[in-house]
Amino acid sequence: MGYSSAPTVLGILKHLKRSKSDETSGLPSLLIRDAHIWTKNDTTRGSILVEQGKIRRIARNITERADGEILAQRLLVLPGLIDGHVHLRDMKLSYKEDFTTGTAAAAAGGFTSVIDMPNSLPPTDSAERLRERAERASGKILVNVGFHSAALNDYDEVRAMKSAGAFSMKLYMPSPIASLDIDDDKVVIQVLNAAKQASLLLTVHAEDATKFPMTGEIRTFAEMVRLRRGIAETSAVRRILRLQRPIGCRVHFCHISLPSSLSAISNRSSGHVSSEVTPPHTLLSQNQVKRLGWKAWMLPPLRSHKDTRKLFRAMKMGIPTTMATDHAPHTVKEKARTPRKSSPGIPGLETALPLMLTMVNKGKLSLGRLVSLLATNPAKVFDLRSKGRLENGADGDLVLVDLKKRGRIDPDKFFSKAHYSPFEGWKTQGVVHTTIVNGLVVYREGEITGEPGIGKVLKSGRHV
Ligand code: NCD
Ligand code: ZN
Repeated sequence: MGYSSAPTVLGILKHLKRSKSDETSGLPSLLIRDAHIWTKNDTTRGSILVEQGKIRRIARNITERADGEILAQRLLVLPGLIDGHVHLRDMKLSYKEDFTTGTAAAAAGGFTSVIDMPNSLPPTDSAERLRERAERASGKILVNVGFHSAALNDYDEVRAMKSAGAFSMKLYMPSPIASLDIDDDKVVIQVLNAAKQASLLLTVHAEDATKFPMTGEIRTFAEMVRLRRGIAETSAVRRILRLQRPIGCRVHFCHISLPSSLSAISNRSSGHVSSEVTPPHTLLSQNQVKRLGWKAWMLPPLRSHKDTRKLFRAMKMGIPTTMATDHAPHTVKEKARTPRKSSPGIPGLETALPLMLTMVNKGKLSLGRLVSLLATNPAKVFDLRSKGRLENGADGDLVLVDLKKRGRIDPDKFFSKAHYSPFEGWKTQGVVHTTIVNGLVVYREGEITGEPGIGKVLKSGRHV
């Protein structure tokens, strides 16, 4: 991806430039001149004026002057990407990732808003914990950050988490974050009812680990992946759908890895159910696990080549609702262990957009589908009304990409603390040139140019 050096937090801080913003003059305005702009269903040529953090005007020619200008003749402007599933860690897990490095990775990957999962330390399992986490993030973030909370069956606490701004309650079926006996349908029904009453989305990691445990000796990652059976996912999806139907709360299925699970979800024609896929599950298969071991170890695991191809095809056709990275950084020490002890999860924020732009260049994915999966639809699922589209009055969250520029995935250059990837060495076409958050340039050509604190803490249901 062409960064000049391996960036660290210190590296980022060294590169910080003060923005022109101050209390009296407000935010500086920005004019992006003569770009290709993605509006609704097509690209048009024109300019975009951003003032006070909002898109003020999009027109063929804008003659007004602005505090800053970007001449973008070769560049394509897309709405800033929204990732509904990241693990930013920080707090007691700062050794894996922290709010600044995680959001630097987001900015470098073209993501202007991300929503953090609750399996942090301490976990985000109450309204108070959510407020503490948000407070810790504010001032440290380079892109906008919202928070999911843990799934609970205590209605009062669920309502309090909703008031604190939680974007969803996450039901982590393999081992619930807050202690819940989720093998008992009655408990899951209580969670679904609480979500319904509090008007809170339920996000689900659908894998039934109790009914389909991994038994027997496991020597290799390939064995591990095979024993973590696909039926555990599809059966968990079916069970949640069966319990959700009479209640009707909104459910979003995270990182679906199998076409059979996706069919079960898409056969439910209710607007209350949505689904998410990730780049690794649509591009990689168990063949990579054989070659790469821990670098390709994540949950749900990678599936067969045939399933991966089918999942990609379904994504291309518009069946899953969103794409998320499930950016899940761990240290190499935590990953390079025996398969049973290795931490599942890989970083994904800095690879998703270059990989998907490469698919667009190869004619395997339309640009329109890419924008729906990574911007427009996540904005709808997570009710971020002023984001996900380039329109007058929308938030000034944009990504400028050089669609033709070639690159190569180089984990040494990641801003994330996790410097590995199963995509290492992949040749890409299409790179992130500039990322703009709330009207301010936070990333440009390999460097973080904004200041931690440019990102805002997002609260669900608060529309500015
Ligand atoms: C995630 C993590 O490390 O937090 N790991 C993963 O393999 N996806 C947890 C999760 O999202 O399941
Ligand atoms: Zn995750």
